[in-house]
Amino acid sequence: TLLDMIINNELDFDGFGACEGTLACSTCHVVLKKDVFDKLPNKACDEELDMLDLAYGLTDTSRLGCQIE
Ligand code: FES
Repeated sequence: TLLDMIINNELDFDGFGACEGTLACSTCHVVLKKDVFDKLPNKACDEELDMLDLAYGLTDTSRLGCQIE
């Protein structure tokens, strides 16, 4: 996932991925360009959509980074 890439490359995004991908936070919220969003192989599941509803600045192309493959 995008979160795995950030962790594995030791990138420092303060507070990103607080729940370590267990769909219990929305700190991994990312806003994607429409063309990128449309190309993602997996769509958001109900649990991701529920958590996205709590994300600050939600957009039509928002996803949770821990769910992007
Ligand atoms: Fe918490 Fe993605 S890291 S929902």
